[in-house]
Amino acid sequence: MDDKVFVFDTTLRDGEQAPGNQLNMVEKIEIAKALELLGVDIIEGGFPISSPGDFDSVVQISKAVSNPIICGLTRAIKKDIEVAADALKYAKRPRIHTGIGTSYYHIHHKLQSNPEDILQRGVAAVKYAKSFVEDVEFYCEDAGRTDNEFLARVVEAVIAAGATVVNIPDTTGYCLPHEFGEKIKYLMEHVSNIDKAILATHCHNDLGMATANTIAGVINGARQVEVTMNGVGERAGNTALEEVVMAIKSHKLGLSTNIVTPHIMETSRLVQRLMKSPVQANKAIVGKNAFAHSSGIHQDGVLKMRENYEIIDPKDVGVKESSIVLTARSGRAALRHRLDLLGYTLTQEELDATYKEFLHIADIKKEINDEDLLVLVGKNKRAEKRAIHLDALQVICGKSMIPTATVSLSIKGKVQTESAMGDGPVDAVYSAIKKLFTKKIRLEEFLIQGFMGGSDDFGRVSVQIECENNYFYGFGVDTDIVTASAEAFVDAISKTLE
Ligand code: KIV
Ligand code: ZN
Repeated sequence: MDDKVFVFDTTLRDGEQAPGNQLNMVEKIEIAKALELLGVDIIEGGFPISSPGDFDSVVQISKAVSNPIICGLTRAIKKDIEVAADALKYAKRPRIHTGIGTSYYHIHHKLQSNPEDILQRGVAAVKYAKSFVEDVEFYCEDAGRTDNEFLARVVEAVIAAGATVVNIPDTTGYCLPHEFGEKIKYLMEHVSNIDKAILATHCHNDLGMATANTIAGVINGARQVEVTMNGVGERAGNTALEEVVMAIKSHKLGLSTNIVTPHIMETSRLVQRLMKSPVQANKAIVGKNAFAHSSGIHQDGVLKMRENYEIIDPKDVGVKESSIVLTARSGRAALRHRLDLLGYTLTQEELDATYKEFLHIADIKKEINDEDLLVLVGKNKRAEKRAIHLDALQVICGKSMIPTATVSLSIKGKVQTESAMGDGPVDAVYSAIKKLFTKKIRLEEFLIQGFMGGSDDFGRVSVQIECENNYFYGFGVDTDIVTASAEAFVDAISKTLE
């Protein structure tokens, strides 16, 4: 049976206090409810004495959610503790999180005090908090840089005073994983009453070690992890919930959490949206590219067996499926797979032809999406049956130039070339094409549209022509809109020969 690791989420306290992450009350409640659904064990709702907004957020979150413990932060100061207790009065399971700095820096340069005084103040704060609530967590601020011997004395004293959880924050994100792991191990081995409380990790990411340090902590005996969604938080952020939870789930550490992992992605997106803080594309677990494969070798491997290049099933974190991003580096296997999903099963010959054209377009566009593929396949299918093909096209145009086009068409297998000038490049092309036919052709309608709206988009051209009192439609598509226009015209004229 796995040991349970409690997940303490501080997105709404440590996460929210970072610049730009501020939320209004409605948004905080929405996130708190999402965290409850996600299965977090504890929600830190705010620092009640710091502002009326933080006080109110602890009150409202206490009313809005029922399963998780609701926690309010305080300093080791009586007034802070009284205000936190007041803010927590509606919580079904309230917790006061009090504490004080224990490192040399904090004791001497922040609090202008000495170790004995700090120890006494810590103990007094726990005892006072205990007079309001049963569940009291104590944090040893800057524990990452605190001497282990002194830290063990503080931890032992606050547990004796009634602390149910003792938090060992790496406040400045200074520790290396082996150091942080050894710190937790030291406390597990040297604090005589450690069995009466749970040790918590609370790691910051200043050196990018927050997840590694947290995992080192739980491997060595910590049983609560303090985390935020997407790793939001002070400076470089806090430990990312999704990373720790999935590391615990992916490895056989004899540990488990209560997190309902398929809710991870939607919770992450909610936090990104409400905090207006999008995660980078390559962010572990929740980044846009976390399950996207773009190189041909990886795509081929993933299509043969997902596990070849994925250690997590995307569905397990609420991502519908891995994505095979079609780029100029993709191979035929990826193209065939995508076309199969779109309902096109091509012969090897058709695939080869489509792949050639795909590479041509992929060199121009960075990414090829489904719309592009449909156009590509549709275009190929139509073009291959035509009696007339656009063989080559050259256009000169621009400011102070007379638009001039030279067009070569393959008409029933014979290549013929003509040039013409016009009002604009398309007019010049159409005039050159018309010269290649004896029948009189009149352009009735011309429509050009983009697909997705980027400057690298396909241009789709629809035309209607009149020839000997009959009307014909043509369609052309290309990233080059003049070529698309020529293709559409040629498509329509071909129909006059059918
Ligand atoms: O990083 C830290 O030390 C904290 C404490 C207040 C728990 O956020
Ligand atoms: Zn913190």
